[in-house]
Amino acid sequence: MPVGIEEIAFYTPKFSLDMVDLANARGEEPDKYTIGIGQTTQSVVPNYEDVVTMGVNAAKNFIEQIDRKSIEMLLFATESGVDNSKSGAIFAKNFLGLKDGIRAIELKQACYAGTLALMQAKDFVRIHPDKKVLVIASDVARYGLNTPGEVTQGAGAVAMLISADPKVAVINDDTVYMVKDEPDFWRPLDSDIALVDGHQSTDVYKEMFLALWGRYKQENTLSLDDIAAWGFHMPYTKMAKKALDQILPEVSNDQQEALREHLAEAQFYNRHVGNLYTGSLYLSLLSLLDRSDSLSAGDRIGLFSFGSGAEAELFSLTLSAGFQEQVAKNRIQSMLDQRQKLSMAEYEAVFLSQHFDSKNEEKTDAPEHTRLCQFIGWQDRYRKYRIAK
Ligand code: CAA
Repeated sequence: MPVGIEEIAFYTPKFSLDMVDLANARGEEPDKYTIGIGQTTQSVVPNYEDVVTMGVNAAKNFIEQIDRKSIEMLLFATESGVDNSKSGAIFAKNFLGLKDGIRAIELKQACYAGTLALMQAKDFVRIHPDKKVLVIASDVARYGLNTPGEVTQGAGAVAMLISADPKVAVINDDTVYMVKDEPDFWRPLDSDIALVDGHQSTDVYKEMFLALWGRYKQENTLSLDDIAAWGFHMPYTKMAKKALDQILPEVSNDQQEALREHLAEAQFYNRHVGNLYTGSLYLSLLSLLDRSDSLSAGDRIGLFSFGSGAEAELFSLTLSAGFQEQVAKNRIQSMLDQRQKLSMAEYEAVFLSQHFDSKNEEKTDAPEHTRLCQFIGWQDRYRKYRIAK
């Protein structure tokens, strides 16, 4: 029985920063950021958004159009959760109006956990074909002002409904995965910024992609000619190119050209949003499906998921008839165009305005009169949210 993605939706906060402005402020060549690293703009998170609000705001794009009672489980993947004990899934379950009789849990392994959620959801639906699973992958990529990682920040969430009615794509039974203990990226419990050795991380990413691709081909008796296009986890868009370049010589020049063109489509939105950790691969998938006009139903899309530390998974989807309409509903380009561009001074002020201290009872800058879910501040050291029902 085919199981896969029925709905997929994306949300990112309404502020953005131009990477040319960032480069100029940090004394770097703009081309290093826009070409060498491959980032054009990044989403900037106001102090009234967090992984819960972004995840809820993504899922709200389709939740009202589906039968909520069919959702039996909510899997919430994040590296940047809001509490050391309580799961973001419980907040999200409430704000999305889901029934009490579900399972809801948060999953963590750097940028990889969204893929574990997807695979658990697929297995669950296979056994319970009348049930659906809501997967939310939501993160804030925060490296700090004046750090090498600053150009690779970003934020956003992808929500996916996994069911036996895969209107977007079927998740194939071809996955391969692996774990390697690596000190390339981590975030101590007392730190709100990630610590990273970016060059080591890139090497681990490339190595794991190559190792998994070798296993994938062997275990599934497939070759690169069977993959119409790729989506990648993209901390920065150049990283995906570095991975794909390793295997392109396996196919003809024409096929290499086609895969490169599709990679540019799969990089496009990530280039304008930045890293969103767990959601990054799925934004790349959305970008590919939304921007390509040459993919069609039945095409096999390869996906490479990676989380530093490190864990990776390589699998494929087969596109369903009508996937374009499902994806286009998101109107992602228009969402990105409507973001408000910040000056460097505004960006730094927003960056420093986050309410990480639970003893700070000041209200956040959450605007009134919005249907979006917002974090309004701490009260008795508990997070308070507002959402129009
Ligand atoms: N014009 C064009 N290109 C230029 C240039 C110019 N003027 N100047 C430099 N470049 C190129 C360089 O040649 C280089 O290209 P290659 O990589 O192809 O050689 C590129 O720009 C970057 O230059 P550097 O390596 O010198 O840059 P850097 O030392 O500042 O590091 C970085 C760049 C590694 C991406 C750094 O920004 C970083 O550490 N970022 C965060 C790291 C990251 O995201 N790691 C992945 C983690 S995985 C993840 O997402 C985390 C998770 O699991 C939760």
